Amino acid sequence: MSENFVRAGTENGVRILTIDRPEKMNALAGPVREALLEALDAAEGDDEVRVVVITGAGEKAFVAGADVGEFEGRSPVDQRDAMASPNLFDRVWECPKPTIAMINGYALGGGCELALACDLRIGADSAKLGQPEIRLGIIPGGGGTQRLPRLVGYGKALQLILSGEILDAVAAYEIGLLDEVVPAGELREKTMAIAAAMADKSPVALAIAKRAVRAAMEMPLSAGLQHERDLFALAFSTEDKAEGVAAFLEKRRPEWKGR
Ligand code: COA
Repeated sequence: MSENFVRAGTENGVRILTIDRPEKMNALAGPVREALLEALDAAEGDDEVRVVVITGAGEKAFVAGADVGEFEGRSPVDQRDAMASPNLFDRVWECPKPTIAMINGYALGGGCELALACDLRIGADSAKLGQPEIRLGIIPGGGGTQRLPRLVGYGKALQLILSGEILDAVAAYEIGLLDEVVPAGELREKTMAIAAAMADKSPVALAIAKRAVRAAMEMPLSAGLQHERDLFALAFSTEDKAEGVAAFLEKRRPEWKGR
């Protein structure tokens, strides 16, 4: 068991994972990544958990990036090993449950990439986002060069990655990097409301929906449309499809089985 750099709590089916290293702006040192990977495994394996929210401890930072201190003197081979399987960002990306980044402050470098790996990004109006790696003579290595252009477009992604510019919350919202901006004091309440709207849906349908939308990122349109039809048909094999349709016709709330 790794040191407790991640606090976990559950409210109404929403698991909140709080990266807890505020004195270092929640920077993702190796042990922090390990703790987050363990917490994600636990969240994924717990049927009570319907939605996963990731946030940072304190008021200043979501995550201010990889731990720059670890880069000093590190060889290319060591760095490649440090980023290898299980890769935190891919692990978040592949989570079958909805994931929400609740961005309470700086989301820089690996912090921005962690948010990019989530399904939604809800930001406090005090949030600041960017990929400042270029200032250190390096580039984003946690998916930023791939997920950022897919989210905000090629030109905006290059502008951010090549300049290292840090955006305030409104600017991030305007380019689609944040899905919502809310007053800092309302961040948790608003995020939980968004999470609640997902937490009461069929877990199996949520997982299939995520997989279908992911295909839009990875496949040409014709293949993606075929994939959607296949997944739509797959949804007809679930008990939750039978329950959802029956509940609608019987004018009652569905009781999901998650199968
Ligand atoms: N890695 C390691 N330590 C970090 C860190 C990071 N990514 N980001 C912040 N810290 C540490 C600082 O070194 C400082 O530690 P210290 O008190 O032991 O000196 C502490 O967190 C507080 O940060 P500080 O810089 O004093 O706060 P600030 O409010 O002046 O600035 C930031 C906040 C986020 C703008 C600034 O810390 C920063 O630029 N961080 C690096 C961001 C970055 O380049 N990320 C990408 C890395 S690839």
